[in-house]
Amino acid sequence: MSTSPDTLDDSPTGAHTRRGTFGEGERVQLTDPKGRLHTITLGAGKEFHTHRGRLAHDDLIGAPDGSVVKNTAGVEYLALRPLLSDYVLSMPRGAAVVYPKDAGQIVAMADIFPGARVVEAGVGSGALSMSLLRAVGDQGSLHSFERREDFADIARGNVEAFFGGPHPAWTLSVGDLVETLPGAVEPGTVDRVVLDMLAPWECLGVVGDALAPGGVLICYVATATQLSRVAEAARDHGGFTEPQAWESLVRGWHLEGLAVRPEHRMHGHTGFLITTRRLAPGVTPPLRKRRPAKGAYGEAATEQWEPEDLGERPLSEKKIRRVRRSVTETSET
Ligand SMILES: C[S@@+](CC[C@H](N)C(=O)[O-])C[C@H]1O[C@@H](n2cnc3c(N)ncnc32)[C@H](O)[C@@H]1O
Repeated sequence: MSTSPDTLDDSPTGAHTRRGTFGEGERVQLTDPKGRLHTITLGAGKEFHTHRGRLAHDDLIGAPDGSVVKNTAGVEYLALRPLLSDYVLSMPRGAAVVYPKDAGQIVAMADIFPGARVVEAGVGSGALSMSLLRAVGDQGSLHSFERREDFADIARGNVEAFFGGPHPAWTLSVGDLVETLPGAVEPGTVDRVVLDMLAPWECLGVVGDALAPGGVLICYVATATQLSRVAEAARDHGGFTEPQAWESLVRGWHLEGLAVRPEHRMHGHTGFLITTRRLAPGVTPPLRKRRPAKGAYGEAATEQWEPEDLGERPLSEKKIRRVRRSVTETSET
């Protein structure tokens, strides 16, 4: 049986709130003539005030998405329903949110599929939870763990406001992942685990027990030191494939007439992503063909660093003598 868009009107995931005219209680994003964004929640009889006049919410309630409305001073505002990427950047925050560019990478590279059983920690403000819920759909499940009750409340409010109510695939538990995950899921049943927290390496034991063979773990970390620590902990665990890490840089472009060029400013850094997959029970990872650089591990790595410790090719004394000779000969002529 095919599903027409109309039969989705009662969708518990709030698809019906993503289309049609603006309704009371909905968030609307206004863009003023200078391109500044203002997000308002529509209420009958309410007004949006700036030093340049007042805009009646009633002029927007019942208007189509993409309308232009004028305030009492004749200033025009473009009104649009916020996309998920707009919403997460304007919603109330407790903890820092995962930026949309990274949420997109997480959904794609951790292979979050419709119907997947996903575990996430921590929840923070709920930004990433929304992308994960969209990807698993109402047939999947997302079990999110957050150890701070106040953050969990903020996340629940944000997620429910976005989906227009509780999402049928979402369970939010308050507690530390290490303590609560083992009692919450059957071992070997989780398809994907997404960690955005300070110390994901502390969770690899319980995550390894929860993941199904072949399941994906993805961690989002802010610093290179965290990245290194997760990678080494995954190797030490012994039940994961060789980790892969990357970062993504997104540079906006200025588009005006002939002035088509990269924007002058960009977010230079958000975080790093690292993925690995759960091996079948009892399987040990195959030996790596490329051996780690001499001295990359152990005491030497923290005491006196050599170029080889960082995987650089050492310069031979002979080569240095040759370069030195050529430089001094050039300067003498
Ligand atoms: C940066 S925030 C997560 C932001 C979230 N991904 C978002 O996009 O809004 C990190 C959160 O992890 C929580 N956290 C840290 N360690 C945890 C653990 N072991 N178990 C559960 N939550 C944890 C913190 O309380 C914090 O709220």
